Amino acid sequence: MTEKIVLAYSGGLDTSVAVRWLKQKYGLDVITLTIDVGNEADFTAARQKALRVGAVKALVKDAREEFVRQYAFPTLRAGAVYQGVYPLATALSRPLIAKLLVETARQEGATAVAHGCTGKGNDQVRFEVGIAALAPDLKVIAPAREWGMTREQSIAYAAEHDIPLPMTLDNPYSIDENLWGRSIECGILEDPWQEPPEDVFAWTKPPADTPDEAGYVEIGFERGVPVSLDGQTMDGVGLLIRLNELAGGHGIGRIDHVEDRLVGIKSREIYEAPAAVTLIAAHQALETMTLSRAQLAFKRQVAAEYANLIYDGLWFSALKKDLAAYVESAQRFVNGTVRLKMHKGNLSVVGRRAPHSLYHHGLATYDKGDQFDQDAAAGFIHIWGLPVRIQAEAQPEPKDEESS
Ligand code: ARG
Repeated sequence: MTEKIVLAYSGGLDTSVAVRWLKQKYGLDVITLTIDVGNEADFTAARQKALRVGAVKALVKDAREEFVRQYAFPTLRAGAVYQGVYPLATALSRPLIAKLLVETARQEGATAVAHGCTGKGNDQVRFEVGIAALAPDLKVIAPAREWGMTREQSIAYAAEHDIPLPMTLDNPYSIDENLWGRSIECGILEDPWQEPPEDVFAWTKPPADTPDEAGYVEIGFERGVPVSLDGQTMDGVGLLIRLNELAGGHGIGRIDHVEDRLVGIKSREIYEAPAAVTLIAAHQALETMTLSRAQLAFKRQVAAEYANLIYDGLWFSALKKDLAAYVESAQRFVNGTVRLKMHKGNLSVVGRRAPHSLYHHGLATYDKGDQFDQDAAAGFIHIWGLPVRIQAEAQPEPKDEESS
């Protein structure tokens, strides 16, 4: 019996060529798996195309709910943002796709899985390390990495094998999308001096074309999970769709970043992530109300670690599990509402309230009603400064121009 392989199929040129190539080179029956993570694609057309180019079976799976609940929102709660700017949209979809590839391979009795990544990016690492964690026995084939075809050669291969060329062939960019954001690479963007032309953006309006009047939005959270928008309870998928539109309409969420890939390359990346950027700002603001200074400081370290391991393809690692347990605990009281203002591409938090807030007006106020015992401050400073004073007396520093 012919062995089966499950290919993660986008419907684009490379994965379409891969269907034929896997059959030709390895004699495998190819089952394609196309996953909806909120990318704006025609999934029916992708399915038909897969069959047309030679797949024995073409599966489509709506994984949006799982993506938001198990990947995007946990990352939001962790506060994980790579290199301080990238909300990790693409990086987060990879482990989910890896998981679904493995599940499908098991269901279909396939002995291998395949993806369309090249050998230069992070995504190959994320797929393959994810698959290794979930199914160490499964073989992985990476056609686009193996065949070494240039773009022109892939086009020629497609023409030769009656593989329809995508309509987007004249689009010079490489684009990856899901509900957490849109990643754009290639073309003129490879020159880091060039401002991104307006045609790279699809989810965000140019700030000059946005409403002159500021927009406001209120996000409600329960245990660090966004649960409502402007007072209306919403499921995660619905909330992200709505917020991408709303914030994108005010030009929020454009990111231009020279990023360090895991494989050692610096690469210029453009992202659009209106909802993610808004939620990250809102969540952070709510944490300033509900977490202690010590929790905030420690969580920043956890967030940085978390972001790196997501970026580096270690979603299914033991460390990630450990950190997730910390995050779960840290979010116990992260309930409340944050009010944000959106205007001409700028986002600002303008209000926050929380039932378990640590902000105490009586302690903070400079007006009447002050409950803070200012006399106690003198004693506090005396003891806080004690070791400094004793050391200064016992070990006087030499008067030296250089030192300060
Ligand atoms: N640099 C980002 C990352 O590694 C985005 C990658 C986008 N991928 C793509 N095929 N366009 O997560």
